[in-house]
Amino acid sequence: MIQRFFCTIPNVSNAYEIEIGRGILNSQIKYLSNLASRFAIITDDIVAPLYGKKLEKLLSSSGLKVNLFSFPSGEQHKTRTTKELLENNLFEKGFGRDSCVIALGGGVVTDIAGYLAATYCRGIPLVMIPTSLLGMVDASIGGKTGVNVSYGKNLLGCIYHPKKVVIDILTLKSLPKYEFANGVVEMIKHGLVADHHLFEYLENNALQLLALDLDVVEKAIFESCRIKKEIVEQDERERGKRHLLNFGHTIGHALENLTHYTLSHGEAVAIGLLVESYLSLKLKVLDSESFERIKRILIQYDLPLKLPFQFPISRILEAMAFDKKSIKGQARFVTIEKIGSPQITDSSYCVHVEEILVKEALQWMNDDLYSY
Ligand SMILES: NC(=O)c1ccc[n+]([C@@H]2O[C@H](COP(=O)([O-])OP(=O)(O)OC[C@H]3O[C@@H](n4cnc5c(N)ncnc54)[C@H](O)[C@@H]3O)[C@@H](O)[C@H]2O)c1
Repeated sequence: MIQRFFCTIPNVSNAYEIEIGRGILNSQIKYLSNLASRFAIITDDIVAPLYGKKLEKLLSSSGLKVNLFSFPSGEQHKTRTTKELLENNLFEKGFGRDSCVIALGGGVVTDIAGYLAATYCRGIPLVMIPTSLLGMVDASIGGKTGVNVSYGKNLLGCIYHPKKVVIDILTLKSLPKYEFANGVVEMIKHGLVADHHLFEYLENNALQLLALDLDVVEKAIFESCRIKKEIVEQDERERGKRHLLNFGHTIGHALENLTHYTLSHGEAVAIGLLVESYLSLKLKVLDSESFERIKRILIQYDLPLKLPFQFPISRILEAMAFDKKSIKGQARFVTIEKIGSPQITDSSYCVHVEEILVKEALQWMNDDLYSY
């Protein structure tokens, strides 16, 4: 069965469709042929041989003009340099305004190809075909695109919505298990900040999800995408409610940055979710039973909660100052009252937490998760 729903952003001219199904790449030709006259499939060097070449062949055998462009996989390549190299490749092949970018890959590909599409000839159509779980439930929905710079993650970029998001869950069959777990972290986050039913579903179906039971995977992806798109619809520009999607990321992004991305996004955010839940506990907003459930679910999904080393607390605080929720260099945090219920104070979805408490939580992380 194919599930379809629309992401409708106020003031964005076209609502875009999110299509979820199995083996649905083949059925996109008619849609694509009405969208542009040339197609640039942008992918990385792992996804290119798995799905890129097949998609290129499919499009060209259907009479569409297409070229495949790939760059080395990995977060360290989500840079201005990679974007520039890709742009030069497209110019050399004569791609112009009548072209469309197809972003085929994980979140690194969708972020960089999305940013490229947003700026190439002042913006050309973009179709997202995420192939990692994280790409499916998070990175491909909501329009955020960008690259990392040495000062921090995603500090250059823009909001640019795709024309369509195509999620073919069969592509997950080739995704390494630890990459799959990275995506589960974002689904857990969606459950924590917006829907206790999703959280419970993930608790009760961990074995099936990890064994890639397609019915379970499809339902979890559908619910997770629904939550993400509903939040984005209410706050595209991240002025309020969209901050919720940042739960676990204030600390997670700082850890990624301090480890020079040797800690993957999912691993860093898993630790971030736990430490930021600990903050909620210390603020007496969250009860200890819920905190234990959060810890348990992260363990259920084999997320490595162990720190690679103890982080100097001052360095983490410094790195968090760049967080987008920060005001005057002071980090703000999303906190939760219950599983599925965030704390909302004075219509704000994140709060300033006394530095002494933040330091206490980071010390707990250094002590408990290092020796874990
Ligand atoms: N724009 C957003 O809203 C948003 C949201 C969340 C995360 N992100 C970004 O997403 C990135 C992380 O995404 P990711 O975890 O997908 O990382 P990734 O893109 O690096 O993909 C992880 C690995 O899986 C491989 N891969 C992807 N699909 C595969 C498949 N089907 N089979 C086999 N291998 C496959 C990739 O080649 C890569 O080696 C980060 O840069 C993060 O900042 C963006």
